Amino acid sequence: MQSNNSTINRNGYILGIESTAHTFSIGLADSTGYPLDSVSVAVRPLKGGIHPREAADHHAEKAAGVLQELLETNNLGPTNFEAVSYSQGPGLGPCLRIGASVARTISQKWGISLIGVNHCVAHIEVGRKTCGCDDPVLLYVSGGNTQIIAKMDGKYRVLGETLDIGIGNMLDKFAREQGIPFPGGPKIESLAKEWVENNPDAKLGDFALPYAVQGMDLAFSGVLNAACNLIKKGAPLGAVCWSIQEHTFSACVEVAERALAHTSKKELLLGGGVACNSRLRDMCDIMASERSAKSFVPERKFCVDNGSMIAVLGKLHLDCNDTTELSKSSVLQYLRTDQTPILWS
Ligand code: ATP
Ligand code: FE2
Repeated sequence: MQSNNSTINRNGYILGIESTAHTFSIGLADSTGYPLDSVSVAVRPLKGGIHPREAADHHAEKAAGVLQELLETNNLGPTNFEAVSYSQGPGLGPCLRIGASVARTISQKWGISLIGVNHCVAHIEVGRKTCGCDDPVLLYVSGGNTQIIAKMDGKYRVLGETLDIGIGNMLDKFAREQGIPFPGGPKIESLAKEWVENNPDAKLGDFALPYAVQGMDLAFSGVLNAACNLIKKGAPLGAVCWSIQEHTFSACVEVAERALAHTSKKELLLGGGVACNSRLRDMCDIMASERSAKSFVPERKFCVDNGSMIAVLGKLHLDCNDTTELSKSSVLQYLRTDQTPILWS
């Protein structure tokens, strides 16, 4: 029931704003911290990678419409919200700054708390919340990030990560070289699937690529170069897509398996846009079941960048009274997963 300001029942909703790179998204979490559907728009450059300034202009232009659509779809207004959270980092500076200014404006205008959150931690927490796992090793595979993470001593520690480009970035760059527009991952997945269905006896050795594992870390630029060279030498596109997936996904799964062994944890959680891939999901299932662990995969809408995961993490901070003062709300372009203290259980 809403009445005057002093007795407002805000229903405990949290608004979440995501703007680390190509996607601008506003979503929400309910009073239990569970994510609802976000409203998202993304820049899709026809050629070349994303240009941070152009993406930021895009986000600034779309922000008001996205917010209006979210509120109308859910039949909510300013008085229903307890706090507004936003991706404070890591990400592209100009894009992050748009999300942060939208969040500051909403916080001031609606009179609600402001909470800057760590984007990478949000990928973990939305998975824990929606999959119901407790203490997982996270395989975080997105465009910009590839990390194997586990909670130890109150922080999400990075046990292994890419030493060069993110796995999604590698997929997108390979796709772009072949004239496939951004995002390349989904198209690579369908080409690989089609090819392997039509060539069930294919041998990976015929389309060999470099090994992406380096100790507990990973590296993908050598794979990218080698895959482009296979195409130049006349290998079928579908075969190379299949080979890229088999080689790089098994590399990620191998490091994740070692992290499970090292930490003695029994849960594996996938997150990030590349976690939408069915072949990767299957590989994780197989690896986990072979070692009596369990693999958890969030719904695809919660794997890709989305505002609701930012709201989920905002709610966790809010419940610990950990809000962000205006003077400390600047974006943190290079924020790392293990810099954020985990105050909640
Ligand atoms: P971050 O800031 O965490 O690095 P991001 O900006 O890369 O995130 P996400 O939405 O998490 O954004 O991930 C986008 C990536 O996911 C793109 O590289 C895209 O190609 C990849 N992707 C999406 N769907 C699939 C799929 N089915 N198979 C493989 N890759 C996919
Ligand atoms: Fe992301």
